[in-house]
Amino acid sequence: MNQTIGRKLLLSYIVIIVVGGLTLAIAAELHTPTAIARHMNNVGGQMMHRGEHEPMSSDLLANVAQAINEILLVASIAATLAAIVVSAFVTRRITTPIHTMQVASQRIAAGDYSERIAVRSADELGDMATAFNAMATTLEATEMRRRQLLGDVAHELRTPLTNIRSVIEGIIDGVLVNDPAILIEIQDEVRRLQRIVADLEALSKAEAGQLSLEKRLIDPTHFIKLAVERLAWQYEQKGVVLHVELPDKLPLIELDEGRITQVMLNLLGNGLQHTIEGDVVRISAEFSSAHLHIHVADTGAGISPDDITHIFERFYRADKSRKRTSGGSGIGLTISKHIVEAHAGSLTAKSGGLNQGSTFTLSLPRP
Ligand SMILES: Nc1ncnc2c1ncn2[C@@H]1O[C@H](COP(=O)(O)OP(=O)(O)OP(=O)(O)O)[C@@H](O)[C@H]1O
Ligand SMILES: [Mg+2]
Repeated sequence: MNQTIGRKLLLSYIVIIVVGGLTLAIAAELHTPTAIARHMNNVGGQMMHRGEHEPMSSDLLANVAQAINEILLVASIAATLAAIVVSAFVTRRITTPIHTMQVASQRIAAGDYSERIAVRSADELGDMATAFNAMATTLEATEMRRRQLLGDVAHELRTPLTNIRSVIEGIIDGVLVNDPAILIEIQDEVRRLQRIVADLEALSKAEAGQLSLEKRLIDPTHFIKLAVERLAWQYEQKGVVLHVELPDKLPLIELDEGRITQVMLNLLGNGLQHTIEGDVVRISAEFSSAHLHIHVADTGAGISPDDITHIFERFYRADKSRKRTSGGSGIGLTISKHIVEAHAGSLTAKSGGLNQGSTFTLSLPRP
């Protein structure tokens, strides 16, 4: 590809050189005789004035013109040769980075995402190299997440499946009795599997921009209370205080209640997950003429500045140990953010750092 461009560039330079040379030759041919005649006659006139010579003969005039043409020809050939050498050099300077980019993109296409190219100039080619490197970095990150995603999904599915299998085998072998408590254990694992599958399904829909929303005009107090009621018992069990401090009247908001309740449940679930007995999770709300803001603030584990920029990425968990006790699969906030953004709202996180608690703010536009 770049050889064609190189050839085209060189050809265009040569065309320019030839056109320049021809223009020079034609202009010289047309203009030389009259210019010489004029100038020589001037000189001749002055000399005659002093009585030294005859006016210039036409023979001498032709000879001078020929000499000038000769000089022009030699100069043109030298200039053309120099121009060709310089064009070849300039062409190489332009085509080399293009060639480098071509080779690098082929490597990336073949799956080597670590490929980067050196940015050597501050012009458009340099910009292209910078853009290329940025693209390669994004592709590398996406590919890494894709691999991690597969690993994570496999890991998330393996544990409940292993548990279910061992219980069933235990019952078949007669080691375990067919007792309702054991069946409830299996049921829990099946629920866990169903939740993971549902989350993955929601995530893939959300990422494809296919979340269907059934919006209605709703009093936000309603879904906040709904989420609080659903988790109140678990909070009580863990000894974490759940405070709800809402203004008397909140503005009606147009939203898909089911999905926004899911967002609230995710935030409250995370709050519960990252707090210990005696901690407090506080729900508050405020509104302006354009937005309603709901804050979920906890006094728990907090989030480090390094982690806080990533927590909305899918499968990202600050605690990489993946103990089953230490949380879910890292999809909750990703789905929540997609849901909120589908409502033209925003979901943000703030934390003073580790052990400084965290505050999540859900903002929705008022109709
Ligand atoms: N209130 C919080 N306090 C401290 N860290 C939090 C809090 N909420 C979220 N995080 C961090 O953000 C990560 C991502 O949260 P997210 O809800 O997406 O996933 P998860 O809770 O681990 O799993 P899932 O919600 O899918 O079951 C968490 O693993 C945790 O590290
Ligand atoms: Mg969560």
